[in-house]
Amino acid sequence: MTHATTFWNDFSGRVAVVTGAGSSEGIGFATCRLLAQLGAQVYALDLGFQNDAQGSWTQLECDVSDAHACEAVFRTIVSESQGIDVLVNNAGIVSATRIPDMESASFQRMMEVNALGVFNVTHTALEGMKARAGAIVNVASIAAQRGGGLQGGAHYAASKGAVASFTKACARELGRWGIRANYVNPGVIHTGMTDGKFSAEQLAGMQAQIPLGRLGTAAEVASAIVFLASPAAAYITGSALDVNGGYHIH
Ligand SMILES: NC(=O)c1ccc[n+]([C@@H]2O[C@H](COP(=O)([O-])OP(=O)(O)OC[C@H]3O[C@@H](n4cnc5c(N)ncnc54)[C@H](O)[C@@H]3O)[C@@H](O)[C@H]2O)c1
Repeated sequence: MTHATTFWNDFSGRVAVVTGAGSSEGIGFATCRLLAQLGAQVYALDLGFQNDAQGSWTQLECDVSDAHACEAVFRTIVSESQGIDVLVNNAGIVSATRIPDMESASFQRMMEVNALGVFNVTHTALEGMKARAGAIVNVASIAAQRGGGLQGGAHYAASKGAVASFTKACARELGRWGIRANYVNPGVIHTGMTDGKFSAEQLAGMQAQIPLGRLGTAAEVASAIVFLASPAAAYITGSALDVNGGYHIH
């Protein structure tokens, strides 16, 4: 039997959608950049885009918590591209509020963006992915594994726990179309979400607990996302990849 040689990192001819790619410092932007470098036709979705967050991809405004907005955007994408091979659910918000000070409305908003947003986008993209045996990669967090406690409060941890469970359910249900679903758990990563949020003392304390002795970069998380989206991960579904420098080992 002969096998055609496919380089694991060749995304030419593939269509990728990445949510939350509006900031040039973010994980979504780094993922768009890597996928585009590897040949993919990329669509970046966000509420809005920083001026320096442009690349060789299409930017579309979309609030992932709004199901109708998602439907409109995916109609455009599928009519242009005929299908979707890679979906990266990366959009998210964070807040460090502790439970006694947390209001129901902020818990709800966290779930609407971080959890419902992943459902809205996945549900809407699904029709475009079925015939393409697409790959879904969701961005959860170390906060779901350790119950928040860093920059994320209980609502953030719960929303990312929902992302993890939803991803596993996607793997179970969508495998019949050859669709894989996996997620990454970033640790503490240098992005707009974290920069300037920790005191020098907090940073030193965290770094002392990270075996690799430093925070991660957006590009390092993007590499893990792109690996899970690639043919090299063809038999991986329902799995999580920790990208945390060893901060949480279990
Ligand atoms: N930075 C970290 O340390 C870290 C750690 C673990 C997990 N994460 C997760 O990684 C993902 C990316 O975060 P980041 O660190 O790159 O931060 P970021 O703030 O640069 O990226 C998040 C993006 O999501 C967008 N967004 C927010 N609400 C949205 C909505 N309703 N619809 C569409 N887009 C929306 C924001 O505009 C932003 O561009 C998030 O899901 C975050 O929870 C980050």
